[in-house]
Amino acid sequence: MAALRSTEIQVAPTAENTEPQEDKTDPSRIEVVSVTDEDLPTVETPTTINVSPLTSRSNTPPPDSSFEKHSDQVRNPIYDPQTQVPPSPTMPITKVQPFMNEEKTWHGRLFACRMELLFGGCVLVVVTLTLGIGLGVGLSCEGKFRCGTSSRCISISAQCDGIVDCEEGEDELSCVRLSGKSSVLQVRSEGEWKTVCSDEWNSALGVSACKQLGYARYVESSSLPCSSIEQDFQNNLISININRSGLQQAIKIHNASHLSKTQCSSGRVTTIKCLDCGTRPRFSRRIVGGNVSASGQFPWQVSLHFQNEHLCGGSIITSRWILTAAHCVYGFAYPTLWALHVGLIEQPVNGAQALAVEKIIYHDRYRPKGLDYDIALMKLAEPLIFNGYVEPICLPNFGENFEDGLICWISGWGASEDGGEGSVLMHSARVPLISTKVCSQPGVYQGFISSWMICAGYLEGGTDSCQGDSGGPLACEDMAVWKLVGATSWGQGCAERNKPGVYTRITQSLYWIHLQMEVSREGET
Ligand code: ARG
Repeated sequence: MAALRSTEIQVAPTAENTEPQEDKTDPSRIEVVSVTDEDLPTVETPTTINVSPLTSRSNTPPPDSSFEKHSDQVRNPIYDPQTQVPPSPTMPITKVQPFMNEEKTWHGRLFACRMELLFGGCVLVVVTLTLGIGLGVGLSCEGKFRCGTSSRCISISAQCDGIVDCEEGEDELSCVRLSGKSSVLQVRSEGEWKTVCSDEWNSALGVSACKQLGYARYVESSSLPCSSIEQDFQNNLISININRSGLQQAIKIHNASHLSKTQCSSGRVTTIKCLDCGTRPRFSRRIVGGNVSASGQFPWQVSLHFQNEHLCGGSIITSRWILTAAHCVYGFAYPTLWALHVGLIEQPVNGAQALAVEKIIYHDRYRPKGLDYDIALMKLAEPLIFNGYVEPICLPNFGENFEDGLICWISGWGASEDGGEGSVLMHSARVPLISTKVCSQPGVYQGFISSWMICAGYLEGGTDSCQGDSGGPLACEDMAVWKLVGATSWGQGCAERNKPGVYTRITQSLYWIHLQMEVSREGET
């Protein structure tokens, strides 16, 4: 065995490796000793000796003159360090022994060894503790903003101030959000979210705000009396004062120098729209057999084909982005393995044109053994053209609440029973949202439902999503606009009693989604 560690060589007790010889010089110096077979005592030897690392057999001797080239073959008995004659290949091994001055008795050596180990151990513990504590403090970044996954922390007020502090500029991302039912614009400033007052607002700002949310386009903005929005967003107003030329230089709207603390004299706040979404222009409410979906009924539904077979569902959220579940792509996040189909009802899609994927991103905290963070995005190589059969669904806004019992829809080509075959035709079903409280009850999914999940379905069973529906939409209509409330994630069996479907909660995933789209920049509407 030859496990080489830094100061220790495990050796078999052969003659070549026997214990170092006697002490001759200053103990602090690393000594060179030449040994021959004859010099070696025939005493019992330990299996471990402490020596400094055997240096490589290179030709460069270390600076210490007593530390010479050596070979680990014991051959030639004499090598005088004083003469500086390098050993020839036939010359002896020169073992380097750091403990030459110690007690010659085994007892003493053993004791010295122990002391050494003890001391080493103590040093190790101290170093580990220091590093651990230091790292812990660094990693926790308490009360500060952490730059990506690095250990760098910056003050909260430096986040979203228009000045890049983190190496990758993460501190200037996620600085804009849309909140509440009416899509009120908010910017992050001095560590707080502030609602944008409509004073001094102009549409160029809207273009920038949409860009910062990861959209490539901007549709419109309007203003609302502050009193008509949710209470949570009514305080902390801010006006953005920037002209068009300013915007051309600094595309970020949250830049501190553009924010004015003056009162919002109009008392009105800004709402914006970056995408026409959530409508079904081609859906006529004709009745179709059973729960087979009609053309245009769920125009945001995508079929994700893995190696030419339907594997999962997805939802169109912009012309370039498809939202799905992380568990659909985990381990297979290679764009070329996937092809997407949109605007279809019937599988398989013989000859139909498949859409190529450019990029697949899944939540970095998703773990295949876990159930949280089950979200992924696929970026299309080419933007979609919306035509009524292919349409995006709206993302909900921050702080939007979808009431328990609200009737929503699930759709996809999943199995019609647990372990069954996928469906040829896209099916859909009405399912009510179930509160986390009810869904976490004993007998349901006690201890399994996190803030990243939302349950929907029936405790009595009978209607549910199933294998093959994953990643697909849980869509809810809200004032004639359809919003993506969940992405099909998991369930115990399918449609079983007390085992409703569990969906990734989109309101929880908004920062992640917009961040990916913002970073990827080219996200288009
Ligand atoms: N994980 C499944 C899939 O990959 C979806 C399961 C949904 N199950 C349920 N009972 N709702 O397709």
